[in-house]
Amino acid sequence: MGRLSTKHLLGIEELTSEDVHLILETADHFKEVINRPIKKVPSLRDTTIANIFFENSTRTRISFELAQKRLSADVVNFSSGQSSVKKGETLLDTVNNILAMKVDMVVMRHKSVGAPHFIAKHTPTIVINAGDGTHEHPTQALLDAYSIKERLGEVGGKKVCIFGDILHSRVALSNIYCLQKLGAEVMVCGPSTLIPKHIAKLGVKVEWDVRKALQWCDVANVLRIQLERQEDEIAYFPSLREYALYYGINKELLQSLNKEIVIMHPGPINRGVEITSDVADSGHSIILNQVENGVAVRMAVTYLLAGASTL
Ligand code: CP
Repeated sequence: MGRLSTKHLLGIEELTSEDVHLILETADHFKEVINRPIKKVPSLRDTTIANIFFENSTRTRISFELAQKRLSADVVNFSSGQSSVKKGETLLDTVNNILAMKVDMVVMRHKSVGAPHFIAKHTPTIVINAGDGTHEHPTQALLDAYSIKERLGEVGGKKVCIFGDILHSRVALSNIYCLQKLGAEVMVCGPSTLIPKHIAKLGVKVEWDVRKALQWCDVANVLRIQLERQEDEIAYFPSLREYALYYGINKELLQSLNKEIVIMHPGPINRGVEITSDVADSGHSIILNQVENGVAVRMAVTYLLAGASTL
């Protein structure tokens, strides 16, 4: 088994293509493990990991915890709402206090861009970024790539369009880097107010017409509107109803195209806004496969960063 070129997983931007391939190949092994009757290996039984979440999460937090437990690591979970952060403790003091309890690795989600990078720079621990503001969500992109590969056989040469609120999305940026490192073509599609002005400099195509974007792509990765990260005083579109009308992915639209498109969504879904239930729950959707694969991919990332030598 190879080694990653980095000590941390802070973003896909910092990874080499070889790193991405290594993570996906390692995840193949762990996918087999999590489908065994006994879904556990002893690889990380000497490792203690803290999941430090300063923002809400369902999928990412549970998926990391399950991944760690299935590698036999000891796990502690921190959420800022019930912590001494509420009493004024700084981020660095909080993390240093957790590390003083002999924690080897932290998985961190924070609303501020660069927070995991700051902890990686100022502490000796291994850091995995579980989402930093509007910047990156690297394990989401890795599990998305893994899921495309599982459904279509490969990622290289495929056309993937990311739909929706690209401006406020960390999933979009990590997906762009990851898909390009694997040789896919990437397009983004959404209202012009939700597409970053200079995004074409990343080598992605930009399309504002959902029908044209769907006609182009093999895979549609549909994102929700990130209301929690939008500035209150700015109206990016007139109403959610109008957004659904012009940018929502629905069954009638897909059926009118006469082609097969793989439907993805990182969750949480806002049903009836960016995607209708008959699309999200259809045979073309791999949304729950993404969630399942998240555990295997996070086992792979954790295992490789811990430098574990036995599977
Ligand atoms: N996809 C994702 O990051 O979901 P959560 O916010 O529930 O972790």
